[in-house]
Amino acid sequence: MRLQKYLASCGVASRRKCEEYILEGKVAVNGQVVQTLGTKVAEKDEVTFCGKIVSLQETYVYYMLNKPVGYVTTVQDEKQRQTVLDLIHDEKHRVYPVGRLDYNTSGLLLLTNDGELTYGLTHPKHHVNKCYEVKVKGVLSQEAQYALKNGVLLEGKMTYPAQVKVLRQGEKSTLFQLTIHEGRNRQVRRMCEAVGYPVLSLKRVSIGKLTLDDLALGHYRALTEKEVQYLKKVSQGG
Ligand code: URA
Repeated sequence: MRLQKYLASCGVASRRKCEEYILEGKVAVNGQVVQTLGTKVAEKDEVTFCGKIVSLQETYVYYMLNKPVGYVTTVQDEKQRQTVLDLIHDEKHRVYPVGRLDYNTSGLLLLTNDGELTYGLTHPKHHVNKCYEVKVKGVLSQEAQYALKNGVLLEGKMTYPAQVKVLRQGEKSTLFQLTIHEGRNRQVRRMCEAVGYPVLSLKRVSIGKLTLDDLALGHYRALTEKEVQYLKKVSQGG
C-alpha cells in the first residue's frame, strides 16, 4: 500500500494531509525518514508519525460536531490554541476533521478516522453542497445577492453558482443562507468581502443532507448508519 494511504488508513489524517506530513519529513519507515510520496509499505513495516508508531485501525467512527468559535480544525496548532479534538472524548479512536472551518466559524464539522471517506468528501471532483448562515453588516443589496449567486472573482477564478436565501433583514444587519459546493480557502468570507459585505458571523448548518438540527454547541454525536452510507455514496460521486 502507498505510504500516504497507509497513514490515512491508520487514522493519522486525510490522505492529502498525510502527503504534506510525508513531505515535511514527519514520517519514517523502519527508522528511516521517508519524504517520497507513493513509497510502498507492507504490514510488516514499522511506520511512525512524529516518532510514534501507527497501526491500521479496524473500526471506523464518524462524528458530527457543532464546533464553537475559538477552536482550530488542525490537529496540532503552533500557537497552542484549542483544537476541535479537545472536544472529542474518544480514547479508542484517533479521529481528525474532514476539511476545515475557520477559527471564527462555528457549526457542522465531520470527524472520522476513515481516510478514504475524507479523501472522497474533500476531493474537488465530488463536492457536496455546504450551507452556511452568514451575518453581514447592513442591508444586503440585490446587486450583492446577484453576484454571490452568479459568481465572484476570487484570485482570478470565478466561484461557481451558489444559492442565496435571506433569512432576516434588519436595518443594521442581514442574516442569510449561502449554499456553495466548492471548498476554497475561506471561501464564504472572501466572497462576501468581494461584494462589499465583510462577515460578522459565520456558521455551517449543513453538509449535503446532514444537518446540525438541535445538536448543542460544543457537543458531538455519532452519525447513524444511514448517514454514513449517504456520505460514502456522495464521496464516490454518487
Ligand atoms: N468559508 C469560510 O470563509 N470560512 C469557513 O470556515 C468555511 C467556509
